[in-house]
Amino acid sequence: MLEEIRVRQSIRKYTDQPIEEEKIIALLKAAMRAPTAQNRQEWRFLVVQDRESLDNIATFSPYTGMMKQAQAAIIVLGDREVTPTDAYIYVDCAAAIQNILLEGVHLGLGTCWCAIGPNEERIEAFKNYFKFPNTHLPVAVIAVGYPNETKQWIDRFDENKITYWKK
Ligand SMILES: Cc1cc2nc3c(=O)[nH]c(=O)nc-3n(C[C@H](O)[C@H](O)[C@H](O)COP(=O)(O)O)c2cc1C
Repeated sequence: MLEEIRVRQSIRKYTDQPIEEEKIIALLKAAMRAPTAQNRQEWRFLVVQDRESLDNIATFSPYTGMMKQAQAAIIVLGDREVTPTDAYIYVDCAAAIQNILLEGVHLGLGTCWCAIGPNEERIEAFKNYFKFPNTHLPVAVIAVGYPNETKQWIDRFDENKITYWKK
């Protein structure tokens, strides 16, 4: 198994160390290596780095409190004008998000995937604040920072969840 896949965990506590611009670019390059349905590449990325906006994101959902410590947030959106089926937007953006999380591990960064859609209240809160167009569906916001916590690693491999089809 790739070491980045093996050790990745959601990290919700971060140090004050700012994130180098080239690392942000590396995360976005990783995101855009993800596969998309019909190769439409409808993902869009809004990078947030100012303290005030990060603190505001912490209030847009009961589960984004870690943004108060995060040094950056990447909002992942799908352009409905490019991909009209939301189900594809969600899976395409999810693949890009996972690439960001794994590249984050590679770069020594801690990340946490926080859902926005399909919760309508959260979608509205993000739309109102960041003023993106109605055509853009916000799928998730990823908190990014240098880790300030170590967590117990638990092996989740479970043979009971696997069936080998035999005809
Ligand atoms: C679709 C999705 C939405 C999530 N939303 C949140 C969230 O809003 N806040 C949060 O702290 N973690 C969120 N997480 C992270 C999960 O809680 C986390 O992945 C799960 O507990 C497993 O822990 P691990 O990532 O450390 O393996 C989300 C994960 C996914 C895949």
